[in-house]
Amino acid sequence: MRDVAIIGVGMTHFGELWSQSIRDMFSEAALKAMDDAGVEKIDSLYVGCMSSGLYTNQEHLGSVMADYMGQRGIPAMRVESACASGGMAVRAAFMEVASGQSDIVMAGGVEKMWDADDGSAILATASDQEYEAFTGVTFPGLYAMMAHAYMHKYGLTREELAMPPVFNHRHAINNPNAQYPYELTVKGVLSSSMVADPLRLMDCSPITDGAAAVILCSMDKAKQICKNPIRIKGIGSATGPIALHNHNDLTRLDAVRLAGERAYKMAGATPSDISLCEVHDCFSIAQIIVAEELGFFEYGKGGKAIANGEATYGGKVVINTSGGLKAKGHPVGATGVAQLIEVVEQLQGRAGKRQVENIKLGMTQNMGGSGGSSVVHILEAI
Ligand code: COA
Repeated sequence: MRDVAIIGVGMTHFGELWSQSIRDMFSEAALKAMDDAGVEKIDSLYVGCMSSGLYTNQEHLGSVMADYMGQRGIPAMRVESACASGGMAVRAAFMEVASGQSDIVMAGGVEKMWDADDGSAILATASDQEYEAFTGVTFPGLYAMMAHAYMHKYGLTREELAMPPVFNHRHAINNPNAQYPYELTVKGVLSSSMVADPLRLMDCSPITDGAAAVILCSMDKAKQICKNPIRIKGIGSATGPIALHNHNDLTRLDAVRLAGERAYKMAGATPSDISLCEVHDCFSIAQIIVAEELGFFEYGKGGKAIANGEATYGGKVVINTSGGLKAKGHPVGATGVAQLIEVVEQLQGRAGKRQVENIKLGMTQNMGGSGGSSVVHILEAI
């Protein structure tokens, strides 16, 4: 396999983008990424998207986007793995470049969620239809069960559970692309409306429109055309049970652990090598469990560690400098790609007020459903 680098990134603002269609959003992100990389032509395209058919009635995204962004004729296809679609699109692009099939490949992600009347039902298509969605349970409901189990097993308080969103909002204040860049307090979380006990509105990632794109290139070529290529040093991906009742333990996400182990192995790295990580905090409890599965904290200790500031600037690892899904926004198919953009910009030293100093390695973790799939990337500046 050849070494692969990211040489360009681009994204839209995340939020309610009423004036842009799904193709407008994707093209904006794609053209920004090409401009950033200084390339006018790509060899192929992968578009991560969870549910464009249900959200906007538009399928066949590979073809739509290649044509609309001015790359008609290239091979292009959509990649779907629920909320991990973006991360899996990057994995597919990585494989194509690493194999030697292509030199310059774009991996993008997009979701236009605000147009739909019943967004919760669309999201629930990523859960188990026969055992979960059929009963009426939504993703906030599923993660609420995980939160209850974790709080019961490890003695996490409701106030401590509120801390991941508090830190994510604090980080998002310095992110010009974030949907909700404002200060949030524990009191603000606890007084927000109840969604699924114990999870309140401010424990949840929002509904978001947005797109993101990165350009992957063989390392040899990257060194010729890019002054600061970022190496993809490790990739790990895994599946887990799609239905929550099939998890061996409601406080664990096995697919995240497996994906992390595979990425660490490929990169020859350990959790202590990771300076910053963008994690899939679709709900406050998810950030805690994921941080444990990636090895940053022992099982049962992640919630209290995050609450004590061990996952913000100056802590053991800085989690979600972008604001995470909670405050930056979560356009599901775009999220995994946007996570990589944050880490690339950090490694290139262009994260502005969000900049983490002396980064060794950066990591991203993207997840589908309640742990049905996950993909982890480890990146380094060369
Ligand atoms: N964080 C901060 N503000 C939020 C928010 C969030 N997560 N969700 C909504 N808001 C804001 C809205 O902007 C709106 O503000 P406004 O009145 O100033 O315009 C207000 O709160 C009410 O928004 P509304 O859209 O009516 O909320 P809702 O009750 O319909 O939906 C959730 C809230 C949490 C149910 C919805 O965002 C949701 O389902 N989130 C989870 C998404 C998900 O499951 N993703 C996949 C994960 S696996």
